[in-house]
Amino acid sequence: MIQEARKYQAFYTKSTPIVDYMVSKLSLKNDDKIFDPCGGDGVFVEAILDINEFANIDVCELNDNAFNILQDKFAKHPTVHIRQCDTLLDNDLFFNSGFGGIYDKIVANPPYGAWQDYEKRDKLKKLFPNLYAKETYALFLFRCIELLKNGGILSFITPDTFLNLHMHKAIRKHILTKTKIIELALFPSSFFPGINFGYANLSIITLQKSDSKTDSLSNHFRVVNGFSNVMQLSNTSDKQLKSFFFLQNDVLTNSDHAFFIADNSKVGESINKTKLKIGDIAACVTGFYSGDDKTFLQVNSPDLKNGKNYGLVVDNSINRDYQNIRDILDGIEGEKHFLPIVKGGNTKYLKPEGWFMNWSKEAVRHYRIDKKARFQNPQFYFKYGIGVPMISSSSITASLIENKLFDQSIVGIFPKDEKLTYYLLAFFNSPTCNKLIRIINPSANNPANYIKKIPFIMPDDKILDTIGSKVEEILQSIKTKSEYDRETEDEIYRLITGLYGF
Ligand SMILES: C[S@@+](CC[C@H](N)C(=O)[O-])C[C@H]1O[C@@H](n2cnc3c(N)ncnc32)[C@H](O)[C@@H]1O
Repeated sequence: MIQEARKYQAFYTKSTPIVDYMVSKLSLKNDDKIFDPCGGDGVFVEAILDINEFANIDVCELNDNAFNILQDKFAKHPTVHIRQCDTLLDNDLFFNSGFGGIYDKIVANPPYGAWQDYEKRDKLKKLFPNLYAKETYALFLFRCIELLKNGGILSFITPDTFLNLHMHKAIRKHILTKTKIIELALFPSSFFPGINFGYANLSIITLQKSDSKTDSLSNHFRVVNGFSNVMQLSNTSDKQLKSFFFLQNDVLTNSDHAFFIADNSKVGESINKTKLKIGDIAACVTGFYSGDDKTFLQVNSPDLKNGKNYGLVVDNSINRDYQNIRDILDGIEGEKHFLPIVKGGNTKYLKPEGWFMNWSKEAVRHYRIDKKARFQNPQFYFKYGIGVPMISSSSITASLIENKLFDQSIVGIFPKDEKLTYYLLAFFNSPTCNKLIRIINPSANNPANYIKKIPFIMPDDKILDTIGSKVEEILQSIKTKSEYDRETEDEIYRLITGLYGF
């Protein structure tokens, strides 16, 4: 049963406040033609029938059991039509989408990332060429927008990842140009009984189909968040909730049409209005992977965190003079061919040395041709820059890459102007930067493409010098005492807050 639930992503909406909110957002009328594209056990159908027992509802459901249960449950309702079909591939629905849609209202909790076999994935890619076929909910959303009549309203509950992730760029453009968003409610996934995915929150998007792009783009829509419990969905005008208003045209002009929704409007504004981004002033690149770290990577102590399964590096095999070796990217001849490498892990400013990569000529030849290895962005290996771990524990952190190799769990940041290095090291450790990156990408991931979008404000020379010398103080202190003065760090943060305004 659990396996079946996973296959069809049959997580039913067992939450009256969620169902009631979504149905209320539809502004139902007696003669509406309504559609639920993934019926499950019929929670939405029941809620609609409670309001209008003669509501005209079409339901699609793929799964045998669920289909049978639905048929039994609504056998006495002649205006409820249940079909066993695949909403994404069904010919009738495809046909009706092509003719401008047939439904006044659509409500759904579509499957999120349901498993698709390869044959179906290929079909979906052909049917929805611009969309990310692995993430089913976006395909349902697209199909259902197509199925709405002009002026028709849809309410969908989905993860909030479509608001920001690169792979959902096309669905964002579709929503922004073909519909008018009425309301977007954002809340923790734990509000949904039985679901709590750490990687995203949930969203309920209510929108109205619009055949005028101009009308769509001049639409202001409301985003509500700040929910502390699910009951608050019954009154989204509640003063305790947070509301933000956005113009669709502004969202469309954001890079990748991303929705940057910040509690602090200054943060959102800074992202939307910035002239310069980190990607303009620095190269942001992912690092190296040997393809087989157990064989090529060694540690300098058996007690190193996560280092248990790696061989111990022999002191004599470590090369400390590698910066003077010409053609270092071809590897090192001789016995001294292990080089320090910076790996992930959330340490600020400076990471203690612990990991060493085999950089013999033979090993490098292997890295260059091995399928699993990633000999990527080698022009940045052994350069002086900053490393930001791809995954942050709570806040984003950064440490120096002091002319070392850096691995693929790190995004290497190499400013075009080297005098910005210490400033950027401070910035990437600051709460200001953390606020920005979490709006740009709400998950705890910091891939290079998102880091590039962080707004950059060029400090004047005085601030640059002050922050530079404070960072130097911190680095010296870590080198000599393995700790640093938090007051110095706070002073830096205050200066950065002063620059950005938050
Ligand atoms: C997340 S559940 C939601 C069910 C119900 N609407 C609710 O909210 O409780 C998704 C439902 O969609 C069905 N489903 C999955 N893929 C489908 C498809 N391609 N076409 C139609 N139904 C599908 C599943 O079997 C499951 O019952």
